Amino acid sequence: MHVAMIGAGYVGLVSGACFSDFGHSVTCVDSDARKIDALRIGRIPIFEPGLSELVASNVAASRLSFTSDLALALQEADVVFIAVGTPSRRGDGHADLSYVFQAAREIAHAIRHYTVVVTKSTVPVGTGDEVERIIRDTRPSAEFAVVSNPEFLREGAAIADFKRPDRILVGSEDERAKQVMTELYRPLYLNQSPILFTSRRTAELTKYAANAFLATKVTFINEIADLCEQVGGDVQDVARGIGLDKRIGSKFLHAGPGYGGSCFPKDTLALIKTAQDHGSPIRIVETVAAVNDQRKRAMARKVIQALGGSVRGKTIGVLGLTFKPNTDDMRDAPSISIIAALQDGGAVIKAHDPEGVEQAKMVLENVTYVDTPYRAAEDADALVIVTEWDAFRALDLQRIHTMMAQPVVIDLRNIYRPAEMRALGFRYHSVGRGLAEA
Ligand code: UGA
Repeated sequence: MHVAMIGAGYVGLVSGACFSDFGHSVTCVDSDARKIDALRIGRIPIFEPGLSELVASNVAASRLSFTSDLALALQEADVVFIAVGTPSRRGDGHADLSYVFQAAREIAHAIRHYTVVVTKSTVPVGTGDEVERIIRDTRPSAEFAVVSNPEFLREGAAIADFKRPDRILVGSEDERAKQVMTELYRPLYLNQSPILFTSRRTAELTKYAANAFLATKVTFINEIADLCEQVGGDVQDVARGIGLDKRIGSKFLHAGPGYGGSCFPKDTLALIKTAQDHGSPIRIVETVAAVNDQRKRAMARKVIQALGGSVRGKTIGVLGLTFKPNTDDMRDAPSISIIAALQDGGAVIKAHDPEGVEQAKMVLENVTYVDTPYRAAEDADALVIVTEWDAFRALDLQRIHTMMAQPVVIDLRNIYRPAEMRALGFRYHSVGRGLAEA
């Protein structure tokens, strides 16, 4: 099949590369000509494990190409995906749909034959109706159907998530479009990934419900972690204890510094707004968003307490800046608020991140970047683990102990064991492991 992918950002690039790897012929379109030029010479604008190899092999096999000419990409396309950004609109938290609608207008002009137009961008309920209206108004004679097909790709694991999804969700009431989508996803279907057909509005809402539910799960365990610290419990055992119950499930129960990234913060906010606009507020998600916001600053207070109530003039080493490992994405990363609060308290920050430094430089100020975890620990009064990169899981702790000005470690991802850290002579603090730290 011929596929056009509008938007060569994170979702578009991963999805386009994976579809081409299945044997479809894919053209990725982006209005940013510099991005297209870079992609053509094999330069990938984001860090995602396996993506650059996947792009290179499919380009070499002539199944994947890049252009800024949308009309050209649509010439033969059976399916065109809209995979452009839907950032939070300044001021009100609603999703900004201007890129989606612009893509719809351009598609309307370019359509040559029956084409399935698929929104992959995360869009509020009813956006598919608007996309359909825009195309119809712009080009009344166009033959097309608009489908919702949300993505469930985690950054850092996006290729595996695409190729082995828990489910494929297709929202459409159009039989012909459903057949096209079934054909497109046949390679996955053969791998027994369930394909779920719903109405278009249901699919749009399901995407938000999924992210809001996962954000709720994370926030729930974070609050249980706080309680563990007060009553003397171990949140990891609680998570195991509840996670083995199949009705609850063990995933997304890792307590930490609060969720961040390009999706949960933005999507929870957009769902809250949609629900309020329709007079059907989702109070639980409103609370989740508020609790998560406060949590990041609370983590900075934890560091300040670990240093006896003040960080003025203290040097703090930070390990991990990105919102999660295996990405260079700094969007809404907890490190941003934590570092800002520590700097407000007078701390000097040295930081190390395996991939995120270039992005971090755009959002953080007055931070010294060092190229190894050990240099972050050198002469530091405290070492704070903010992101659980694998490279931080087996550090030479004895070496770190001798390098630090004070052996204080605040492990916000619980990657070390309290008893072992204490045996090594550290003053060790983690998240929700009350008894172990008592
Ligand atoms: C999330 C969803 O997991 C994807 O299914 C979805 O497609 C994507 O958003 C999207 O809408 O595009 P992502 O933002 O890449 O993916 O990252 P997650 O792995 O979901 O993590 C989100 C945040 O929650 C991170 O800050 C992470 O550190 C935090 N988290 C996650 C925890 O603190 N504890 C956990 O147990 C799990």
